[in-house]
Amino acid sequence: MFCARRLIDIEAEVKYGENMILERKMKLDIPDLKQQIGEFQNDYETTVPDPRTALLEFAGLMQMYNGAMKEVSTKLEVLDDEFHIRHCHNPIHHLECRMKSIRSIYEKMQKLGVPPTTDAARKNVLDIAGIRVICNFIDDIYLMEKLLMRQADVALVMRKDYIETPKANGYRSLHIIVQIPVYLSNATEIIPVEIQMRTVAMDYWASLEHMLRYKNNNADTQKYSTALFECAETLAETERTMQKIHNGLTFDMSTSFPW
Ligand code: GTP
Ligand code: MG
Repeated sequence: MFCARRLIDIEAEVKYGENMILERKMKLDIPDLKQQIGEFQNDYETTVPDPRTALLEFAGLMQMYNGAMKEVSTKLEVLDDEFHIRHCHNPIHHLECRMKSIRSIYEKMQKLGVPPTTDAARKNVLDIAGIRVICNFIDDIYLMEKLLMRQADVALVMRKDYIETPKANGYRSLHIIVQIPVYLSNATEIIPVEIQMRTVAMDYWASLEHMLRYKNNNADTQKYSTALFECAETLAETERTMQKIHNGLTFDMSTSFPW
């Protein structure tokens, strides 16, 4: 599950006079990892020969991906904060971060037909760390992508623009996989992070469509998929109009952001 970082992951608010420091809870949960490995062994009747080594190896892997996810989300927040100061506009409505569970990583590897090792996971599963960037307007999506991609330590691995070319069901979002260095005590690891960028309306649509998919009921799929497709088209049209109104009310971003 993705969890909204600004809303849920704020563990404590410590007030120092007028300033407020937000401490975010994004630490690895080792008991939870242990439980996931236990469940994984039961569900798949797999015996891990040395569970302690497997846990250590897996915890190390998850820690790197968690680090990469924090680095990228911080970069996005810094850009959003700067944009707010310079232009009184926040391109990002909110961010959601999630780490893939052991079960989902394993299932994806089975689907890809690769062996269940941490090495194979690193090579083949590029969405272990995921960030969903929910933007206010369509232009904000491409702006955030451009500003992130021009950073020297961020490299593009894959890009799918389902806004320019929506999926047949009407799904819209910009998906990019980037890789960034994570500096550890004895090594620098290059780690991929999947970023899904969409507007509030695209997100609202995708949540409802996800419910339909999750129910996996043929009658409901037939009944609602055409209506959902039409909703996606209507929302896209409304968003284009709202973008024009927003542009008219504010300034021309391309000229007032002089980079
Ligand atoms: P995965 O194996 O699911 O990662 O798919 P993929 O590697 O083919 O990538 P793709 O870019 O198509 O989709 C990745 C993710 O985007 C999914 O896991 C969903 O979170 C989201 N997504 C993609 N297509 C749809 C869709 O039609 N509806 C909804 N609700 N979400 C979608
Ligand atoms: Mg995925």
